[in-house]
Amino acid sequence: MEERKKIIFSGVKPSGDLTLGNYLGAIKNWVNLQEEYDCYFCVVDLHAITVKQEPKELRRRTLEILSIYIASGIVPEKNTLFIQSHVSAHSEASWLLNCNSYMGELGRMTQFKDKSQKYGESIGAGLFTYPVLMAADILLYNADLVPVGIDQKQHLELSRDIAERFNRVYSPTFTVPDAYIPTFGAKIMDLQDPSKKMSKSEENPNGYILIMDPPEVIRKKVSRAVTDSIGVVNYTDDQPGVKNLINILSSIKGVPAEDIVKSYEGLGYAELKRDVADSIVSELEPIQNKVRDLMNDKTYLEEIYKKGADKANYVAMKTLRKMQKKIGLIPR
Ligand code: TYM
Repeated sequence: MEERKKIIFSGVKPSGDLTLGNYLGAIKNWVNLQEEYDCYFCVVDLHAITVKQEPKELRRRTLEILSIYIASGIVPEKNTLFIQSHVSAHSEASWLLNCNSYMGELGRMTQFKDKSQKYGESIGAGLFTYPVLMAADILLYNADLVPVGIDQKQHLELSRDIAERFNRVYSPTFTVPDAYIPTFGAKIMDLQDPSKKMSKSEENPNGYILIMDPPEVIRKKVSRAVTDSIGVVNYTDDQPGVKNLINILSSIKGVPAEDIVKSYEGLGYAELKRDVADSIVSELEPIQNKVRDLMNDKTYLEEIYKKGADKANYVAMKTLRKMQKKIGLIPR
C-alpha cells in the first residue's frame, strides 16, 4: 500500500505587497517541497486584518498572492491552494484553542511585544491572539512540517505547545508540527539597515525589494544597498550588509555561501551587487509576467481557490468536529 505523504501547511498574509524576504524565506522553498509532501498553501487573509486594511486593496493583494504562488511554480493541481476566510473552521478552531491558551504565553511572543511598544494601549486584540489562529491553521490539517522564515519560529513553537496541551488534556488529537527553516534565505535583511529584517512595513522603500518591483527598481535598490568599508567579500557577522547580499545570492542560486565567497576572490562589492541584482531580476521577472497574466484571468483564479476551499474545508471540518466532541460540545 502507498504510504501516506507527510503534510505541509504554510501561508502568507496579504497585509502589504510581498517582499523578496517572503519569497526566499517561504514561497521558493514550498516549490521544492511540493513533490514530496501533501501541501496546503493558504493566503491568510484573516491574519492580515489584525491591522487596518483598505478593503479593495485587501482583495487585490489576496488574489495577487495566490497568483504569486502559482507563478512561482506551485502547481494548483498537485497542491491545495485556498483563501483562509473561505474555510470557516479556521475561525472556529481558533476560538476553541484560544480557550486553551494562556495570556502569559501569548504575551511572551516577541512580535507582539515589538508591536505593543509601537501601538501602546490601542494595540488590536487580534494582534495578541493571532498566533492562536496560526496554530489553528496548522493543526486543522495535522501538518507535519511548516516551511517558514526564522521570524515565525517562535509562533511555531507556540503551535507545538498548544497541540501538546490539547492532546494531553483531551486525548491525542493533533500532529505536533515541526518548522522547516531554510539554510540561507531564512532571514533576509533590510538593504539599508542590515540589522533589521526586510519587511514591507519599513518606511524606507530602498530597504526592501518587492516581488513585483520592476527590474530597474530592483537594480537601483541593490546598487544602493549598505555595505561597509572593508572592501572584501566575506561571509561574516562583522559585514552584515555583504552577508545579506551573499545570502540572497546563495538562496536564489542554491549554492552554499562559502562557494560564493570563493568565487569573489580578488573582486569587490560592485561585482557582487551586479550579480545579486542580475540574479534577483532573472528569478523574479518571469514570475512577474505570469502574475500579470493570472491577475487578468480571475475566472481561472476563482476556479483554483474554490476547488482548494472545498478540499481544505473537508479536511478541516473533520478535525474541528473531533475537537468539538472532545471538548464536550453537542454534535448537531
Ligand atoms: P508573513 O506573512 O509575515 O510572512 C510570510 C512568510 O515569509 C517569511 N518572511 C521572511 N523570510 C525571510 N526573510 C524575511 N525578511 C522574511 N519576512 C517574512 C515568514 O517567515 C513567513 O514564512 N503568521 C504568518 C503567516 C501564517 C502562517 C500560518 C505561516 C499564518 N498562519 C500557518 C505558516 C503556517 C505571517 O505573518 O507571515
